[in-house]
Amino acid sequence: MSDVGGHDAVRRSYDQVAQEYFARLRDELDYKPLDRALLGLIVEEVGSQGSIADVGCGPGHVAGWLADRSASVVGIDLSPGMVSLGRQSYPRVEFRQGDMLSLPAEDDEFAAVIALYSIIHLTEDELQPAFEEIARVLQPQGLLLVSFHMGLEVRHLSDWWGHPVDIDFRFLEPDSVIPQLEQAGLVVETRLERQNYPDEVETRRAYVLARRRPAPRPDSAPVRPAAAPSP
Ligand SMILES: C[S@@+](CC[C@H](N)C(=O)[O-])C[C@H]1O[C@@H](n2cnc3c(N)ncnc32)[C@H](O)[C@@H]1O
Repeated sequence: MSDVGGHDAVRRSYDQVAQEYFARLRDELDYKPLDRALLGLIVEEVGSQGSIADVGCGPGHVAGWLADRSASVVGIDLSPGMVSLGRQSYPRVEFRQGDMLSLPAEDDEFAAVIALYSIIHLTEDELQPAFEEIARVLQPQGLLLVSFHMGLEVRHLSDWWGHPVDIDFRFLEPDSVIPQLEQAGLVVETRLERQNYPDEVETRRAYVLARRRPAPRPDSAPVRPAAAPSP
């Protein structure tokens, strides 16, 4: 298997913990109302406009939740162990194995992309290329929901739940992520923060909703007049 972004250690680490990750987190949305609300918003916005990609989908539990709400969903993950669990557990979801720096997807393929806690293993200089790759696979005006742990810490683990791993968790600040999204052609519409729920690791979390810039207007398109601000 080619190591597109030099992510072998991350891939092996998630292969090691895949079963346990699934056992512990498969029902996590039950106790995450804000996450359910944001995912519900994505389902509502997308409607029948196209598919949703879950990039860094892990074992596919979030993709499965979306599919249960009638969305057409493609789960993409670096770890073959995660992808294999997803295929066994969520037959309504299509799964693809791949790296978010070179997504196994067509240009403009998705009406929305979610990337929940999956950009946290990228190095600083990989973030912008990852956002450009996400913008490539999004339809013009397609929506992105990205979440991450807030801060400046890099937390290295060599043992995760008793499994040997070699992985860095990079906390991120919205103020540094947002300009990179914008630079990639993703216009930020909403940013939210929340403290961890009681059953989660103790970190503050950020959620950013961004939309791919619309396709350029033909020269003849009328320019809209300024509107009065309204509620
Ligand atoms: C913390 S888990 C999050 C899984 C899921 N999104 C969730 O919210 O439970 C991070 C996931 O991202 C995947 N991942 C990490 N780096 C990746 C990359 N470069 N490309 C694609 N997936 C990646 C890992 O294999 C892992 O399944």
